Amino acid sequence: MKRTIVTLPGDGIGRTVLDAAVKVLNAAGFDAEYIEGDIGWEFWRKEGNPLPDRTINLLNEHKIALFGAITSKPKEEAANELSDDLKDKGLVYSSPIVNLRQHFNLDICLRPCRSYEGNPLNFIRRGANGDIEEPMVNVAIFRQNTEGLYGGVEWSNPNDKVYDGLMTHPKFVKNFSQAPRADLSISTRIFTKRATERILLAAFEYARQYGYKSVTLAEKPNVIRETSGMMYKMAKELQREHFSEIELWNTNIDAQMMWLTKNPENYGVIVAGNMFGDIVSDGFAGLIGGLGFACSAQYNPDNGISVFEPTHGSAPKYETFKPSIVNPIAMIESACMMLDHISENDLAKKIRNAIAKVIKEGKVRTYDMLKLKGSPDVFNHGAASTDEMADAIIANL
Ligand code: NAI
Ligand code: MG
Repeated sequence: MKRTIVTLPGDGIGRTVLDAAVKVLNAAGFDAEYIEGDIGWEFWRKEGNPLPDRTINLLNEHKIALFGAITSKPKEEAANELSDDLKDKGLVYSSPIVNLRQHFNLDICLRPCRSYEGNPLNFIRRGANGDIEEPMVNVAIFRQNTEGLYGGVEWSNPNDKVYDGLMTHPKFVKNFSQAPRADLSISTRIFTKRATERILLAAFEYARQYGYKSVTLAEKPNVIRETSGMMYKMAKELQREHFSEIELWNTNIDAQMMWLTKNPENYGVIVAGNMFGDIVSDGFAGLIGGLGFACSAQYNPDNGISVFEPTHGSAPKYETFKPSIVNPIAMIESACMMLDHISENDLAKKIRNAIAKVIKEGKVRTYDMLKLKGSPDVFNHGAASTDEMADAIIANL
């Protein structure tokens, strides 16, 4: 069946890596039609909206999207770059990828981190007898994608209603009521049962489907008693009632960040709220090669809408490099996640095997894999271009 996939290249290197991924998908035999959707800085400047309604409609219609990256800038800077006829209309910039997540309630974010054998960026450590050990990392991080500290319920100099509400809490009275109200900045961390259950369920089901023996909750229930505490309680119930063959481990996020550099091979599926999930997934990504390798999926099981994207941004400083130097693997891996999502598992496996061969062989490496500083000069030091990496993967399909 021919699929229709929405491509959202966005800004900077977004288009470069997305083109490379589509090239690999085509070469692997994925039968699809690609429809490009408008998103990003150009549409902010020209239309005052970085996520036009026509893009929302495209996603409503076709459900599955590959997303490159967007550029975000602070409010004032963004307003200054609007075209003249849009200036002074009071338009306020907000990130289109964050808006896309909110609009479609893409509340499940999955970020797998798996080491490739032979990747020079793999985490290594010294073992008990002094040998260098290179533990293979294979984790899948589930991050709640819409609530918590990134939910946007925030105030500086809170209004009367908010302030009076806070004054009903004894800890607020004790710790914060001395400060002038104008000096207060407040960001809330709100969890709902519904969203918490959805992310926990997604994590446990994934563990079951892919044979992971443990699910680790990386929160802080001993201190953040309400939100983290609720999540831990729900995780325990879910495990006991429906997933008794899978172990539930409970770690504190701070300790987890230490453990992941000591024994990352011990972990399987990790689940956390929005911010801790963001942090712990970047931590694990660092062990498997960093931004050039970190892929992600965001989806909503109810409406079937899913967006697959590398976790890196638009790296504007490399946008104009010809040929491009950036590593397309994170984007190509994100495309593999899309294939898995639509039950094209054999195709995903075929592409991942080709990536594995290229990395193991070690002949074709982008600048980041050679630990070079990004510059147009990297080719003189043996680095492959974005296209050369994509072509090497294609040659190994
Ligand atoms: P970034 O991820 O774009 O770049 C950070 C550094 O990582 C780059 O300088 C580069 O050295 C390296 N890098 C990134 N992608 C790479 C790749 N594929 N291969 C090799 N090296 C790579 O983050 P930065 O510089 O903080 O932000 C740039 C812009 O991207 C900002 O406007 C930011 O708001 C936006 N951004 C967008 C995201 C998204 O679209 N989901 C996520 C993160 C940042
Ligand atoms: Mg992050």
